Amino acid sequence: MAEAVGQIRDEEISEAQIAVHWREEEYYYPSPAFIGQANLTDPDINRRFSIEKFPDCFKEYAELLTWDQYWHTILDTSNAPFWRWFVGGKLNACFNCVDRHLAKYRNKAAFIFVPEPEDEPVVVLTYQELYNRVNEVAAMLRDFAGLKAGDRVTFHLPMTLDLPIMMLACARLGIIHSQVFGGFSGEACGLRIADSGSRVLVTIDGYYRNGRVIDHKVNADIAVQVAEQNGQKVDKVIVCKRHPGRNLSSAPMVKGRDFFFDEIMKEFANRKVDPVSMPSEAPLFLMYTSGTTGKPKGCQHGTGGYLSYVAWTSKYIQDIHPEDVYWCMADIGWITGHSYIVYGPLAVAATSVIYEGVPTYPDAGRPWRIAERLNVNIFHTSPTAIRQLRKSGPNEPQKYNYRFKHMTTVGEPIEPDVWRWYYEVVGKGQAVICDTWWQTENGGFLISTKPALDPMKPGSAGPPLPGIFPVIYDEEGNEVPAGSNRAGNLCIRNPWPGIFQTIWGDPERYVNQYYKRYCRNPNSKDWRDWPYFSGDGAMQAADGYFRILGRVDDVINVAGHRLGTKEIESACLTVEEVAEAAVVPVVDELRGRMPEVYVSLKPGVTPSKAIEEKVVHAIETIIGKIARPKRVWIVPDMPKTRSGKIMRRILAAISNTMEIGDTTTLLNPEVVEQVRQMVQGTGKVEIKAGPEDIRRFGEER
Ligand code: PRX
Repeated sequence: MAEAVGQIRDEEISEAQIAVHWREEEYYYPSPAFIGQANLTDPDINRRFSIEKFPDCFKEYAELLTWDQYWHTILDTSNAPFWRWFVGGKLNACFNCVDRHLAKYRNKAAFIFVPEPEDEPVVVLTYQELYNRVNEVAAMLRDFAGLKAGDRVTFHLPMTLDLPIMMLACARLGIIHSQVFGGFSGEACGLRIADSGSRVLVTIDGYYRNGRVIDHKVNADIAVQVAEQNGQKVDKVIVCKRHPGRNLSSAPMVKGRDFFFDEIMKEFANRKVDPVSMPSEAPLFLMYTSGTTGKPKGCQHGTGGYLSYVAWTSKYIQDIHPEDVYWCMADIGWITGHSYIVYGPLAVAATSVIYEGVPTYPDAGRPWRIAERLNVNIFHTSPTAIRQLRKSGPNEPQKYNYRFKHMTTVGEPIEPDVWRWYYEVVGKGQAVICDTWWQTENGGFLISTKPALDPMKPGSAGPPLPGIFPVIYDEEGNEVPAGSNRAGNLCIRNPWPGIFQTIWGDPERYVNQYYKRYCRNPNSKDWRDWPYFSGDGAMQAADGYFRILGRVDDVINVAGHRLGTKEIESACLTVEEVAEAAVVPVVDELRGRMPEVYVSLKPGVTPSKAIEEKVVHAIETIIGKIARPKRVWIVPDMPKTRSGKIMRRILAAISNTMEIGDTTTLLNPEVVEQVRQMVQGTGKVEIKAGPEDIRRFGEER
């Protein structure tokens, strides 16, 4: 396919279209052993969920839940594009995740908590004990914190059991929780407290990360201050303790405002609170997406639609059975953790593992030791984590005696080479892989292979889920057909139960950002007129599989041809010495923009001109000369966010001698200066304003 660009004459490529040059990959097939035990084996599924059957097909989703009052209208579009699912229905999300499992699974593990320090024992929380704790905390939230259905509460919690217990306690009362990723700063937390209008903040004294104790309570003090500056007073800060009876924080407690969780909970021992029956469309939680593009957006998810969506996809795409031990290594502070550590797995009575720390602590064998010890058989992580684990311990998995039946990848496009390591080395050639594409706004998976039914194709997320009808539009709104070797804007034609309800407090932005772009008639009440704009570029192969190119703003326009950065990075990763690659646009006088390549090498490999040349050669061979990079920089490491995403925005700023911006929230801020000196030299450089597309390049959403 590398020749494709040469075959398309310039006049055939509209300005809006992106030419992509993927090499088609071979299929991999699920094993008979997997198929034999899978939850979803009905070959008729796509017919059952055909577009003619929409929206009634989603009845099957609702039926996975226990309703206090059954719904009467499956989908109400009367206020399009504010969709309402299962209208008239009433239910409680906590009841569905906890209470209803007690009869059968009372003494089965709901959560297994694995502390980062390896000498600290794991904590097993059975469904019965989860029920007890959630009830006690719900009583505290109601009677001590004074919260009731519809109120918002902000959590700034790391990966300990406090977080899911708090979430479920809120759900029990209809309180809307807003968890801010624990790695975010106090300031970021404060802005989100203010936006959501929370007057209660739940935090923790400290936690373990990469072998260090993090003092977290200090962030709460900043958060409260920032929230107040932004018009929201916080009356109560509830401080959990990582070790009961000890305090890991040096921050003082503010009298009358700060309360230790263990002290206030004494009064609530053994209390029980009835679950509050909530309307299907009542908001369950807010999840803010990263605010670097301006004000953070609070994505509001509802109760019945959301819960049914994560339940169905947990059962049929993750293939979770109650007997499985399931481990998603994401952080609960992101949507993946909400949907696929807490709500989805618990809705289907799973055992869900929660790991506190970083995957490579104290070494790259840690995840595989955890998997072996807990007998994990379903594993879920991100391409970044897979790349990190491959870089620091390429042969570690084979040293451990675990066996996965199923593995998930999510969050970024996965390069075929990385996919194959995941499949062959981590999965030992036996596990199916689901490359799941979705977004915070979406609630749950939208594109993925159905694990027992569809073959896998490295680097392609796959076909849409049943009942999801994606379409790729060019800038003018023309459909880009499957098999055309062209990419465009990935949109979804129809609403689905997991879709978010609105942006908290900003319905206009919700419409503008997600629905205005391809809306056919703003007065229409018909869902067909309101395709959802994902903001991702994608292409669809002739077999119907989608390949995600990344954010549409992560595209480099080289001499009028738009190239996906991920595509170039994927090429770099075919060079055996390369561990990680990041491609950014750099201004070029002749060609407009050119890609610039940053690579880090596998352990023990020495940087050399020869490796740089191999990278250039790989790009030219796999994509074509059009993608030839201006420079290849071999760097000691990539600047990364706390959640492990490579900060291409910072590399683009360095490449273009532009303002780098704040780096304090990074995992490794020191790397930025090392890379800057390597690229810009140690002398004084003149900082440029830079063009808009590069200023916005790689922005976290
Ligand atoms: O660009 C897509 C990428 O992650 C974005 C959504 O990020 P977020 O809202 O943080 O949610 C992440 C977890 C659901 C998307 O716009 N993305 C997500 N999954 C994939 C992906 N890119 C490629 N392949 C995926 N499987």
